[in-house]
Amino acid sequence: MSTSSSSAAEKIFIMKFWKQCFIVFLILLICLVIFYFNHKEDNTYILKTLELSGSVNEGDTLFKMNCVGCHGITARGLVGPDLHSITQRLNDKQIIRQIIKGLTPPMPSFEIDPQNMSNLLEYLHSLK
Ligand code: HEC
Repeated sequence: MSTSSSSAAEKIFIMKFWKQCFIVFLILLICLVIFYFNHKEDNTYILKTLELSGSVNEGDTLFKMNCVGCHGITARGLVGPDLHSITQRLNDKQIIRQIIKGLTPPMPSFEIDPQNMSNLLEYLHSLK
């Protein structure tokens, strides 16, 4: 008698356990899908940007409109760091992520189309 009642309790316990596992699994799966699509979107953006060839002059104008407030008119640094030789410290992908992601407040994230991002990159490459 006592063994059968304990095994019934055990079954309920096991069912609850699997239910919880399933819920955790579902949540993880949703996170993974969201991460995957975010990442894929970034990668297509980055690949598209790297395919284009940028113009230093256009990039200079963009820089003057968006970045000088923090990085200084000659990119020698103000609130934000000096960006000379940045292209030797960070690769293009890292720089693009820095600009579109807003990962390091107070630097905001920028929405720039690939052509203009390419121009901006070219400008940063021209800073020696
Ligand atoms: C509101 C101020 C602000 C603006 C506007 C801004 N930045 Fe920044 N930026 C910063 C700060 C602060 C950092 C340093 C973040 C950290 O690493 O702590 C930074 C870091 C960077 C870095 C990485 C430097 C390194 O040494 O790792 C790059 C590249 C950069 N900014 C480029 C840009 C470009 C290009 C623009 C214009 C499109 C821009 N930033 C606009 C504040 C700003």
